[in-house]
This record gives sequence, C-alpha cells and structure tokens, in this order.
Amino acid sequence: MAVSTVAALRELVASVEHLLGPVRAPLGLILGSGLGGLADQIEDARKLPYARLPHLAPSTVVGHAGQLVVGRWQGHDVIALSGRIHLYEGHSFSQVAMPVRMLAGLGVDTLIVTNAAGSVHTRLQPGDLMLIDDHLNLQGGNPLTGRNDARLGPRFPDMTEAYDAGLRKLAHSVAASQGLDLKHGVYAALPGPSYETPAEIRMLAALGADAVGMSTVPEVIAARHMGVRVLGLSCITNLGAGLGKGLLDHAHVGEVAGQATEKMVRLLGGIAQTLPPQTARARIF
Ligand code: HPA
Repeated sequence: MAVSTVAALRELVASVEHLLGPVRAPLGLILGSGLGGLADQIEDARKLPYARLPHLAPSTVVGHAGQLVVGRWQGHDVIALSGRIHLYEGHSFSQVAMPVRMLAGLGVDTLIVTNAAGSVHTRLQPGDLMLIDDHLNLQGGNPLTGRNDARLGPRFPDMTEAYDAGLRKLAHSVAASQGLDLKHGVYAALPGPSYETPAEIRMLAALGADAVGMSTVPEVIAARHMGVRVLGLSCITNLGAGLGKGLLDHAHVGEVAGQATEKMVRLLGGIAQTLPPQTARARIF
C-alpha cells in the first residue's frame, strides 16, 4: 500500500466532512444491487453522491445509485454506501477498497455488507437470504497487494474469521425471532462481468462455494486489514448458470433483489436493533 493511499484517504475524509459537516459513525452499511431502498429508512439523512468526492471512482452500474448516506438508523449513527464500485467496471482492487477505507476513516468499526448472488446448488433458491460464513477469493487479485502501510493494518492480516462469529450468531438469533429461514454458506467472488458457465458453477460447488457474485470480497479484505468487524449477507437472486431452466439476465437479478429487499431490510433492522450501542473508532488517518 503506497503512502499516497493514506494521503488520498485524508483528503477524501476531509472532503466528506467539508461537504456534510462532522461525521463519526460506528456502523457502516454497503448496500448491493437492488438493496439501496434501505437507505430510505435512514433518519436525518445527509447524502452525498460519490461523484462529488475526490479519489472515489464513480459507480456506473444500473441499480447502484452511488451515494453516501449519513444519518441515524435503528438507534445507531450510520453511514450507508448506496451502490458500490466493482472490478468489472475497470477499477483496480485498491479503488474498489477505497470506499471501505473511507468508512473506517469516518469512524466505522462494524460493517454490514450486502450483495446479490447466484446460488451454486439448488439448496439455495432465488429469494433466499444467505449469511456469509466465509469466502473464496477467486478474483485473481487482492486489495492489499503492494507496499503495506502499517497505519492502516498489518502486512499479513488474519482471515480465519473474516465474517465475525459474534455478529453471525446475532444474525441467526434475530432471523429465528422473525421466523425467517436464514441460510448460510460460502460466497465465492469472481471478477465478472460475464456470468458463470454451467461448468464454472459445477467447479464452484466442488470448491465448497454456496453462492457466487462479483463483489464484496475486496471490501471485506480491506475492512479486516483495518480491524473492522464484518457481517455479510447475500440475497440469492437466481440459480447459477445451468441449474435452472432459463438464461441469466441482469434486469431479472435486480428484480428479485428488489423483491427480497423487504425481508433483508427487516432482518438488518432487527440485527441493528439488537446490536449494543457501538463506539465510533478513533481517527486512524
Ligand atoms: N453470478 C455472479 N454474480 C451474480 C449472480 C450470478 O449468478 N447473480 C447475482 N450476481
């Protein structure tokens, strides 16, 4: 990690606070495809399009609004990223990790990441929610490649528990109290943007994956590098290629994600309500 990343982060965090006023929020949310609706629940919302900020690549995908929303949600000070940037848009791993680093710079200590994903076997069906237990990084790179800046985190961060066990337990108990059948499993990240072939879906199943998508993993690696606790949730929008009858189509993926939003929002709301008050982390850069 080049020293200039910290300099860029300082500028980025300063720009957010210049435009929105002081921001210290312990809870961060990254809202994936079709899940941006949750941002509407944030009270006293202060919003900022990524395009107004330096060092943040714009989000160009339909269904990803690309804005930062700061406010109160379920009794917590939160920052939500409504829309994310992806590798397949041509951004580098470090660019994809930049929004997460910005969140940590604004005080985030606990991060909830959501995404849309395809299933790798039929035990997971469209409309299901899957708690991410672990991941497979099959994107061919890592946001921590390059010189490490110890102000951000260690050279070799541990990934044994990338998805916090306490938060996962909490998610399961909230889901049970809501009568929600919360699945759980391993999320495999591929670079995209083409969907997988049926052979690749069979390969992913053999590798131990349960769901597949094109995001999240670089964000989680960057978050863990900085010591941010992570909870990950996938909305299963489709059966992986070859498992169902039809072909895969992005518009349909967005539609199913939209339909599952209500369930996801209810679960996330319950988790946040149950989460004890959090403390924003001290400035790290
Ligand atoms: N594959 C990869 N990414 C996805 C899928 C899929 O089937 N569905 C939603 N995101």
